[in-house]
Formats: sequence, C-alpha cells, structure tokens
Amino acid sequence: PLVLILNGPNLNLLGQRQPEIYGRETLADVDRDCAALGQSLGLDTSLRQSNHEGQIVDWIHEARDRAQAIVINPGALTHTSVAILDALNAFEGPVIEVHISNVHKRESFRHHSYVSLRADGIIVGCGTQGYQLALRRIAALLGYSAA
Ligand code: DQA
Repeated sequence: PLVLILNGPNLNLLGQRQPEIYGRETLADVDRDCAALGQSLGLDTSLRQSNHEGQIVDWIHEARDRAQAIVINPGALTHTSVAILDALNAFEGPVIEVHISNVHKRESFRHHSYVSLRADGIIVGCGTQGYQLALRRIAALLGYSAA
C-alpha cells in the first residue's frame, strides 16, 4: 500500500523558517524518517510539497487510483481551501491531517480547518514527529500493523 504525504505552502522551508515554531528538521529529514518507518510498517510512502493549491488538488485526484491513504499538512491552505476539502471528499481511503505546531495556541485564524471536516484523525503540535504518528495510525486503520 502507498501513502501520499502531502505538504502545502512554505513547508519547503521547513528547518529554516521560524525554527522556534517548526523546529530544525527539514522536509528531507521527514521524508527519510517516514520512508524508514513506512518500510517497517509495510507501507510505501511518497512525500511531496507544493506552494500551489491546484497542484495539491491534482495530487489528491491522482491518489484516487494510486494511493490507499493520505497524510496531509496543507500549511496555510488548511484555513482557506474549500478546494482541498472537496478533493479529499472525493478520496475514499483514510486521511490524517498533521500540523507541526499547536495551531490552537496560535492566532485565532489558525483555529479553523476546512480539512478537519474530512480528516479521520488530526495530529497537532507534535512537531515533525506528527508525520510518523500519522503513519502509525494509517497502518492501524489499513490493518497492516498492530501499531
Ligand atoms: C502548519 C500550521 C499553519 O497554520 C501554517 O500556515 C503552516 C504550518 C503547521 O504545520 O503547524 O504553514 O500547518
């Protein structure tokens, strides 16, 4: 089974951008850690990042035939994108939403997520470790591991 790990705007700067909020690990580190954990759980992973809403919508459409589950950190699009919500509603497998920072401790505009209306689970404020927690949850939901 394939899990797409989708990342929205500005997450290409992970590790450099506001490290006091998002930490020092880069997206390449996250990719490597998720691939290794995925292997031990019996899951293939494909981590992608785009600064463009339409690209993320296209990747979610592609997941309809190719992937069994989606982990998504939509970045700021979390709080604005009905298009990403609609695309996720057209995907049948499990969806886990991840936020590196605790958005509920931050500005009130970060407290609302369109994506949460579709997500089967949400991991917030666990740093970059959140992606690995999401993968473990997906493995359990897909029945590939007792994680
Ligand atoms: C984020 C939280 C969002 O509010 C913010 O716009 C991001 C990252 C997080 O992972 O904590 O870009 O999704």
